[in-house]
Amino acid sequence: MKIGVLASGRGSNFQSIIDAIESGYLDASVGLLIADNQSAFALERAEKHGIEHLVMVPEKFSSRDEYFKDIAVQLHERRVELVVLAGFMRIVGKPLIDEFPSRIMNIHPALLPSFPGLHGQQQASDYGVKIAGCTVHFVDEGMDTGPVIIQAAVTVKDSDSEETLSSRILKLEHRIYPAAIRYFTEGRINVTGRRVKISGIAFEEKTIISPPLP
Ligand code: GRF
Repeated sequence: MKIGVLASGRGSNFQSIIDAIESGYLDASVGLLIADNQSAFALERAEKHGIEHLVMVPEKFSSRDEYFKDIAVQLHERRVELVVLAGFMRIVGKPLIDEFPSRIMNIHPALLPSFPGLHGQQQASDYGVKIAGCTVHFVDEGMDTGPVIIQAAVTVKDSDSEETLSSRILKLEHRIYPAAIRYFTEGRINVTGRRVKISGIAFEEKTIISPPLP
């Protein structure tokens, strides 16, 4: 399956997808990386791994709709079937969502619906939660509001800073994003309204209590 990736920055999640493909964990290829700015480090990762890449700067388009329409054209031209947002710092426009219904994923560094938007980890830490985490979800027109595919949780330490919490969450991001994509490429994801079901999963009952009981 061909994947298209949209990124704005360092692209560590993009790298985790590249690694998953190169190791054989994912039966897919990246047909195109689009960055919304020239200085995105994700572009260098694409270059290094021989992945076609484009810089598409929204300001060069007559409107937001035209921007996302053209992104859809570029992705269709490469026969992309799944669009993956990897640190893409924009709300996706309707023209792209309409072209890829339930075929655009995003990763967010918080347990949605808590702490959507920017700096999810800082928001969680400021709020004083004891359990934080990350979420892979399908993209709709809202900000981090689409149906949830997979989530992972970490315990929060009293001494955590935004950096230490973010780096613990990021390690989990790099595991759950390739997993969500793999379920998709295996045709195991079914979406009904807000509910995403993945076939062939054995339910595991697990509890996290943080801080631990005395
Ligand atoms: C990640 O924390 C991701 O959850 C959020 O933006 C950050 C992107 O990091 N959407 P990277 O560019 O993948 O390293």
